[in-house]
Amino acid sequence: GGQGNGGVTAIAELTISSLPLETRCAPFPLRQHGGFWLPETFLPGFEAARARFEPRPSDVLLASFPKSGTTWLKALAFATLNRAAYPPSGEGHPLRRRGPHDCVQFLESALVVSDDMFASLPPPRLLSTHLPYSLLPEGVKADSSGCRIVYICRDPKDVLVSWWLFTKKALGTQDGPTNGGNKPTLYTLEEELDLFCAGRSANGPYWRHVLEYWAESKRRPHKVLFLRYEEMTRETTSNVRKLAEFMGCPFSGEEEADGVPDAIVGLCSFDHLRSLEVNRNGVSDLNINNDSYYRKGVAGDWANYLSPEMAAQLDRLCHRWTVTQHEPP
Ligand code: A3P
Repeated sequence: GGQGNGGVTAIAELTISSLPLETRCAPFPLRQHGGFWLPETFLPGFEAARARFEPRPSDVLLASFPKSGTTWLKALAFATLNRAAYPPSGEGHPLRRRGPHDCVQFLESALVVSDDMFASLPPPRLLSTHLPYSLLPEGVKADSSGCRIVYICRDPKDVLVSWWLFTKKALGTQDGPTNGGNKPTLYTLEEELDLFCAGRSANGPYWRHVLEYWAESKRRPHKVLFLRYEEMTRETTSNVRKLAEFMGCPFSGEEEADGVPDAIVGLCSFDHLRSLEVNRNGVSDLNINNDSYYRKGVAGDWANYLSPEMAAQLDRLCHRWTVTQHEPP
């Protein structure tokens, strides 16, 4: 393994327990691999995906750094891609009965590890990942696979705050896997900031994650679509049109006249999804309460949590990385 991936060694050749470990970000211990800090629970699935996943030309992979709007993107892409089979205004729409994370599963989810992983899904398949671009299965990245990637990027200050509050909620429901059954204690927001700035957050460093996808979207715009959470909150419908076009299923004039794009936006809106029984009281296949994916759903809420100094620290860091490595995303 590992060939053609910039010298990154496949994890199967090592053992997970030999990889550098970060436990301060309870309840998700991280292991360092290929220059990133990956949640330990996803490593077996990551390895299985790299070994066995076979992309198809009609596949669409939704990629994101955690807390960047994954849930929303999953709902929008699912509703858009499957609108012929499931009209967005129909009462029987799958998103009214199942959470977005159960409608679109993670490539690296350990629960789907088997020989025929995803093979039984009918085309066009819609999958998701928090993996950085450089660690994706080689076949996914190959131009010849035809497989398309949609990335959603969000202001790191909102990502940081959203993640911190998410782990706080998750801590209430999970035991710490790596500390002998003791309930892990929550790190403070200040500690979270330091870890985040050291790249030690789930799938971090954040800036490298964003830049890899951004660079690829510039290099191969037909292959990688780069979306922004903030723009999507401002202009949701036009971003859904962009998404539909990129996925190869643009809205027809008739669909536009029938208000299909707006119906999709309404179905997937924060308020609507959050109000559904499945998202209020359901638990996802990942064993996470669905309601933890819906908090506030706005851009700029970081200002209620981060001091100006903390915000400046994060901005300086991400700016430094973006300007020294590439032009700003
Ligand atoms: P906040 O914590 O800032 O509210 P992810 O889906 O990647 O885990 O990201 C979660 C963030 O997206 C949370 O941000 C959550 O509230 C927000 N979110 C979830 N569903 C959304 C939707 N339908 N529209 C807009 N934002 C949404």
